[in-house]
Amino acid sequence: MTKNPSWLHRIVLSCLIVACSFAIFEGYKNSEAFAQTAQNPAIIVKNRIDRMKALKEAFSVLTMMTTGKRDYDSKTALAAATKVEKITAEILEMFPKGSLIPPSEALPAIWEDWDRFRTDAETSHGETLALVEAIAHNDQADFQNRHKNVGRTCKMCHRRFKQR
Ligand code: HEC
Repeated sequence: MTKNPSWLHRIVLSCLIVACSFAIFEGYKNSEAFAQTAQNPAIIVKNRIDRMKALKEAFSVLTMMTTGKRDYDSKTALAAATKVEKITAEILEMFPKGSLIPPSEALPAIWEDWDRFRTDAETSHGETLALVEAIAHNDQADFQNRHKNVGRTCKMCHRRFKQR
């Protein structure tokens, strides 16, 4: 009878250890560290260039509407602006440390001055939210202004952090 509790103890303890290790591993798997070590830089670079191209494509739909090359249509504009908003929200994740290999045109300054880069990405995303709002409210004048502002944030970041 006296042996039973310690035997039980051991089993409970072993189970706890297994459960904890599992939980820690699960947490690690979801962490940024894992995402960064699990992916290879070539894939990261390729994916982010694709995302930036998609960003340009969506943004140029809006540019054409501001210059009259394309008729303004709020449904198309909203879809394009929402895409721009979604992609700019992902910018920071697109640049994990160590993802600087050809053909990337990113500059090392990104990781040397991450705070600045983060601010540029957040500012850009903030402006895209305002752009989406302007379209949702069908405010054409505001749309023009907000579009200009977003375009400025693309250029500002590229000037600082992208090869020309
Ligand atoms: C916070 C910084 C930042 C913001 C904001 C940003 N970009 Fe970029 N963009 C970059 C960097 C850095 C690269 C280079 C990426 C690489 O080559 O690895 C890049 C690359 C590009 C490219 C080149 C892709 C190719 O073909 O190689 C395009 C096009 C582009 N961005 C469009 C845009 C547009 C449009 C916006 C605004 C709506 C924007 N970007 C906002 C940092 C930014």
